[in-house]
Amino acid sequence: MAFSGKVALITGGGSGMGRLAARNLAAQGKLVAALDVNVDGLKETADGHDGILTIPTDVTDSDSVENAVRRCEQELGPIDRVYNAAAIMPTGLLMDQDISVIHKIMDINYGGVVNVAKYALPGMLERGRGDFINFASMAGWLPIIYLGAYNASKFAVVAFAEVLYHENRNKGVRFACVCPPPVATPLLQQAEDNVWPKTFDSAPPIEPQQVLDAIEVTLEKDTLWVFPGRGTKLGWRARLWFPRLMWKIVHRTEGF
Ligand SMILES: NC(=O)c1ccc[n+]([C@@H]2O[C@H](COP(=O)([O-])OP(=O)(O)OC[C@H]3O[C@@H](n4cnc5c(N)ncnc54)[C@H](O)[C@@H]3O)[C@@H](O)[C@H]2O)c1
Repeated sequence: MAFSGKVALITGGGSGMGRLAARNLAAQGKLVAALDVNVDGLKETADGHDGILTIPTDVTDSDSVENAVRRCEQELGPIDRVYNAAAIMPTGLLMDQDISVIHKIMDINYGGVVNVAKYALPGMLERGRGDFINFASMAGWLPIIYLGAYNASKFAVVAFAEVLYHENRNKGVRFACVCPPPVATPLLQQAEDNVWPKTFDSAPPIEPQQVLDAIEVTLEKDTLWVFPGRGTKLGWRARLWFPRLMWKIVHRTEGF
């Protein structure tokens, strides 16, 4: 594992990949601050796992994020690693989705990343060490029908993470921007509960641990992009080089 530090702060720590990252690090004797709006989820994450401090936090609320960062540093120590994993993914056609839902997706998925960067990253840059990991998605590169609001939020994360990296490289902090295809976590239930894009069926979801392992490989190489799963990088290239072809495939797959 590429992590030699001691303290990690993880948003979205109450479920899925945030929970898995928190438990993995705690099992290695690291100290973890798990942040989430889901208090029950946080409790479950920490149950039976020493070393996980749970801090109920709404990442859209900059005061809440600032307090969580301060509490983490006071109780656990300087932050050596951040996972920005909090997100939501309600699906639907853009003209069918409620306006408040579209804004909420952006506030959490993109605004949350901004808030955590503004409060947690300055200390890491000052100390000249640490890992700053942003979860984007393949949806941050490949727009598809039914996922427009989530696509927009993840395109924003991709752009923010890329510029953040270029503005701060060579300052001792390593950056990773994670772009997985569908992963087997509770997030997918939000598509099940709304509209399931048939495009998701092009391959079975990958396992959360695969994503976390791919992050370590990227951090060790000191590069930015993480494309976990077979064929993910190819899909990314196809979108860059053949966007019209990709849209043809999306229309054919979704049936309109
Ligand atoms: N699961 C996938 O298919 C997939 C694919 C690509 C990228 N991702 C990204 O990976 C990251 C982790 O996703 P996951 O699959 O583990 O999802 P998940 O749904 O299992 O966990 C996300 C967590 O974010 C929390 N959250 C939501 N709103 C919040 C808020 N306002 N403040 C704080 N926490 C909040 C939720 O309560 C939840 O515990 C996300 O950024 C997601 O977009 C997931």
